[in-house]
Amino acid sequence: MSFDTRYPSIDDLRVKAKKKIPKFAFEYLDGGCNEDVNLIRNTSELREVQLKPNYLRKHHGSSLKTKLFGVEYDAPFGIAPVGLQGLMWPNAPEILAKAAFQHNIPFVLSTVTTTSIERASELTEGKAWFQLYHPTENRLRDDIIKRAADAECPVLVILCDVPTFGFRPRDIRNGLAMPPKMNLSNILQVFGRPHWGIETLKHGIPNFEVLKPYMPKDLDLKQLGKFMDDTFSGRLNEEKIKPIRDMWKGKLVLKGVASEYDTEEAIRLGLDGIIVSNHGGRQLDAGESTIKPLISIAEKYGDQIEVMMDSGIRSGPDVARAMASGAKFTFMGRSFMYGVSALGKKGGNHTISLLKTELQQVMEQLCCENTKDFPYHLIK
Ligand SMILES: Cc1cc2nc3c(=O)[nH]c(=O)nc-3n(C[C@H](O)[C@H](O)[C@H](O)COP(=O)(O)O)c2cc1C
Repeated sequence: MSFDTRYPSIDDLRVKAKKKIPKFAFEYLDGGCNEDVNLIRNTSELREVQLKPNYLRKHHGSSLKTKLFGVEYDAPFGIAPVGLQGLMWPNAPEILAKAAFQHNIPFVLSTVTTTSIERASELTEGKAWFQLYHPTENRLRDDIIKRAADAECPVLVILCDVPTFGFRPRDIRNGLAMPPKMNLSNILQVFGRPHWGIETLKHGIPNFEVLKPYMPKDLDLKQLGKFMDDTFSGRLNEEKIKPIRDMWKGKLVLKGVASEYDTEEAIRLGLDGIIVSNHGGRQLDAGESTIKPLISIAEKYGDQIEVMMDSGIRSGPDVARAMASGAKFTFMGRSFMYGVSALGKKGGNHTISLLKTELQQVMEQLCCENTKDFPYHLIK
């Protein structure tokens, strides 16, 4: 098997990650918002989806290969954009970008992560996607989009589910809300995780590499919070989407869609795809799990726009459940970050290999030859 058999599930990686990295970093990764209702619901309601096997059907082997935006990927899942990845493990975005490239799956770079657009593009030979947090100033927006185009990013992802920062009690307690503050307790946590501390020292304090060219030098944490607040205007609307659609010649995807209304707007504004997502339960604790809106959105609009999904997926069977419910493609955030936090450099390859193996087993079991055939196995 091409993964480390000591960690044959995402939950094993989560448990290991918890032991390996400081509490403030683990809680930033692991938590949802408010009381974590939406976080828990995402996985539990997804797992209510059941699939039917057809054992006696003729079977010529199952393939994970999946076409999206004219590209054939080796599996129907990709790596979702995650901010501050270098805080969880040094070089995490580079580890994941390389693994995604080797496995031929999409890697999406966040505006607020710790590797630059240019570096992600270099590591993936121009295959990395880029997720844009919407800048307040048009000049900054245009410059970042130009950098993404120059780096040959094939897909730009814009975000509609962050009109406000999610209310995350753990991050507030740990000083990771905006503005962030490093407190004594955080510093002590680092001493309890020496491997993390040494690796972090070796690689240097992580930086917002995408934003570095626009940031004044030597900001303290309070000034950094203010810079972020002033630089980004979270709420997306037609006036903000239109110029991006005009400017961006590649595929444009709206992430964070949870309603038919927003899907119709995305279609009207000429987007190529949507990711039905609730940010992994980090924004609206009273919201629905993503599997719920996915089913009706995919059924109604799946022939007008590419409908993808993330939030709550933690295994190959979960990917199959989402695909059977109408997703053309899926993404995961935490699963991959648990992998890298737990296993460092080996975490990207391990997690992708594990998910591929699990998904292959599900397909063989169902007698499902192609990923687009998952919906035939859905028990309604
Ligand atoms: C720690 C963390 C940071 C995130 N940062 C971003 C981000 O910068 N941009 C973004 O579009 N989504 C971000 N997300 C959301 C993910 O892209 C994705 O929607 C979510 O993780 C999917 O849920 P899952 O973690 O259950 O797979 C973040 C998620 C996590 C867990």
